[in-house]
Amino acid sequence: MKILVIGSGGREHALAWKLAQSPLSTKVFVAPGNAGTALEEKIENISISSDDIKGLINFAQNEKIKLTVVGPEDPLVHGIVDKFEEHGLLCLGPNSLAAQLEGSKTFMKEILVSAGVPTAGYQVFNDPELALEYLNNIEAPIVVKADGLAAGKGVVVAHDKQTAENAINSIMKNKKVGDAGKSIVIEDFLTGHEASFIVLTDGKNVVPFATSQDHKQRDDGDKGPNTGGMGAYSPTPLVTEAMHKEVMENIIAPTLSELKKRGIEYKGFLYAGLMIDGNEIKVLEYNCRFGDPETQPILMRMNSDFADLCLRACEYNLKDFEIDWDKRSSIGVVMASSGYPESYAKGSEIKGIPKEKESLKVFHCGTIQDKGLLKSNGGRVLCVTALGEDLSQAIDTAYKATGNINWDGCFFRSDIGQRDISSNKS
Ligand code: AMP
Ligand code: GLY
Repeated sequence: MKILVIGSGGREHALAWKLAQSPLSTKVFVAPGNAGTALEEKIENISISSDDIKGLINFAQNEKIKLTVVGPEDPLVHGIVDKFEEHGLLCLGPNSLAAQLEGSKTFMKEILVSAGVPTAGYQVFNDPELALEYLNNIEAPIVVKADGLAAGKGVVVAHDKQTAENAINSIMKNKKVGDAGKSIVIEDFLTGHEASFIVLTDGKNVVPFATSQDHKQRDDGDKGPNTGGMGAYSPTPLVTEAMHKEVMENIIAPTLSELKKRGIEYKGFLYAGLMIDGNEIKVLEYNCRFGDPETQPILMRMNSDFADLCLRACEYNLKDFEIDWDKRSSIGVVMASSGYPESYAKGSEIKGIPKEKESLKVFHCGTIQDKGLLKSNGGRVLCVTALGEDLSQAIDTAYKATGNINWDGCFFRSDIGQRDISSNKS
């Protein structure tokens, strides 16, 4: 079958790479893809943007695409699945109503509370003056979140009231994230360790992926501003077997049934961002898609046929599907352009990408080919992903490669995965 992947980041490179490995797939198109997907066997980029839903449908019809897999949240929230399905095309992802779990923090919190799923206490504000007044009655730290999609720029963890006030002003009054900041959620600050818990559901059956942990802050030691993610590893021992069961039974299942009660069927990847404090697990956020960069290390460990899995999800046929995981550990280290997550330069030549091997794969996030040269074209540029007998070995392999890769202004965190190794030692 022919498959279409929508998006252009490291997640989409990994999705397309894994789908192309399946004997079921004859060709995988990526719209619009990047320089990494352009180099892969069986994969071809097409220059249609991920928000051109009409153009994508035309392409899928003309090429007789059997299955479309959507990477980023924007097209999902804007109803790409609804439109593909109206045209009788299989498209993996939640419809626009279900994607509101990520598209609106207020909606997500309402669902969690109605479903009895533990989450941080919160208040919603539509008026900046009322939000500022509320600050007088509470203590920092607190978290200020724009309600809508803000490409990772809508959340401010405020360790003092001044930072919270600035965040309210910049989101609501100065419209830093546009209409996404018309209303905000102010949340209690939670402590603990974060884990990413991602599942695939056909609306009825739920198949969990291997657990993982992302590193959201830009700098070593979890310092600096929040980013889309600077690196991830899988599995994480933070999620014990007992916790895994608890998350499936007391978090994922009630969320899906609360949606169902409201007439909303959720199909596709569902990503729960968890805060784990001792034995207590709370949901920080839901994303309506696979994680980036979690996808890269998770799919490195997948032995099962990913195209079969995605097709089954679209055909409501996930019953009893269990994914076969490589027992080894994996890690993905993101290499980014200086200035990220704010503004950054593009167009620097990238040198030193090592030859691929079974235990090492460099996924491209923001790259282009320009007159025969590979150049940076985004904030997150590469995700160096490695497998190892244990996490330490995976870390060694990945960091040996990052040490040789370079472009003007390139940077990366030097401690991806170390948190886990230190906690294991203690
Ligand atoms: P979100 O997009 O809601 O997951 O927020 C992005 C990041 O901000 C999370 O991954 C956490 O690192 C941090 N964060 C969000 N909400 C809270 C909270 N209530 N308490 C502490 N940290 C938070
Ligand atoms: N890595 C975080 C995310 O995909 O939202």
